Amino acid sequence: MKHPVEPFRIKVVEPISLPDREERERILRESHYNLFKIPSEKVFIDLLTDSGTGALSQEQWSSMMVADESYAGPRSWYKLKEAIYEFSGFEDPIPVHQGRAAEKIIASLFLYEGAKVVSNTLFDTTRANFESYGAQVYDIPIPEAKTLDDTHPFKGNIDLKELEDLLRQKDISLVIMVMTNNTGGGQPVDLDNLIQAYEICKRYNTPLIIDACRISENSYFVKRRNPKYSDWSIKDIVRESFKHCDGAFMSAKKDGLSNMGGFLAFKDPDKTLRAKELLILWEGFIHYGGLSGRDMESFAVGLLESLDERYLEYRAGQVEYLTYALKEAGWDVMLPPGGHAAYIEVSKTLSHIPREQFPAHSLAVEIYREGAIRTVEIGSLMFKDRAKFEFVRFAIPRRMYTKSHLDYVIDTLRKIYERKEDLKGYRITYEPPFLRHFLADLEPIN
Ligand code: F0G
Repeated sequence: MKHPVEPFRIKVVEPISLPDREERERILRESHYNLFKIPSEKVFIDLLTDSGTGALSQEQWSSMMVADESYAGPRSWYKLKEAIYEFSGFEDPIPVHQGRAAEKIIASLFLYEGAKVVSNTLFDTTRANFESYGAQVYDIPIPEAKTLDDTHPFKGNIDLKELEDLLRQKDISLVIMVMTNNTGGGQPVDLDNLIQAYEICKRYNTPLIIDACRISENSYFVKRRNPKYSDWSIKDIVRESFKHCDGAFMSAKKDGLSNMGGFLAFKDPDKTLRAKELLILWEGFIHYGGLSGRDMESFAVGLLESLDERYLEYRAGQVEYLTYALKEAGWDVMLPPGGHAAYIEVSKTLSHIPREQFPAHSLAVEIYREGAIRTVEIGSLMFKDRAKFEFVRFAIPRRMYTKSHLDYVIDTLRKIYERKEDLKGYRITYEPPFLRHFLADLEPIN
């Protein structure tokens, strides 16, 4: 597998360093074996998340210098509004500081105690926000999504038959299509699947909202994997996607190529107005929604940069390179490679560690111990007994790491595979009431 040539050169550098083994062990102890608690300066390669962590372009940096920080009507807002319109076709978007701010507004507008939500698979913060409003969530990905090495090209698709059954049998308040499906392995949703899901939702008068944080990556896969769209531009696929929904929200920390930002938009002017009222209460005025003018400038430029097919080809190529190399090193991986991360599944490889002792977390800790590389567990620690897989996710920040960084990650995983039987389980010593993986304390079981 070849690594793609980066379609950029590096102009600004940020030094990174590798703490020695003794220090890494101490840091793990002091962080209570929770990788979220490790200071980033003690991390050599940080693959915790692709959210807000990417490198900015020269165009983004220069736009930030001319940002307008006015409270009402800043120039930077109009520029962002125009970019969101060009990207999505939404004429009256609402800025938010990140995706979960939009999730809270959506929850407040659509949900109530006992409400029901259907999705191809909600992300953890979305689910937690919805559940905090008393909603019940049904994740219904297609059956192929549940098999690690099934190479269905669109494992992010929603199960259309189950969707129709649920809409017929239950009073569903909301359907969310997550594009790509992060929790399910960064897998794309076919545009045709979205179109059909929206048709069904319209028949049952149920609103469909797109979680669009990785929609440029999703559209790249639509172009590559569905021959019907092979001649379309990425921008046309993105815009076509947004035609088949009642609203959308987007964390700009992903395909907005920004460090901060997001937007929320509805086709219904009444919903838009009510969302604006809540925005002022929680986020800020409707012309900045928790963002500085600098953030809005960087977001406006980054959003349109994410449509560049050469960039998307390089990005998908990096994920593919890492995924197949990890597979060659012996690990089970989610196939086909997804959009923003490689995923190792450890149920078989670490079968000596029971689920209650978090085998994927054990590997994530070991990856830090061995190579000061930070990844994240997406398994029983994050999702308790709802976890379908025991994943370690290697999220690749955008435009940041080179081939040699990824080769270092691959070497580290080769070494760990050789002594995989030595890995031990973990137990939780402190557990917060929700989203426990962020704040939990753990200790190794000896
Ligand atoms: N939806 C999806 C599919 C996400 O992946 C995320 C965040 C959000 C919503 C929430 O957006 O972070 O801006 O509030 N995902 C990050 C991750 C945190 O690491 O996958 P946010």
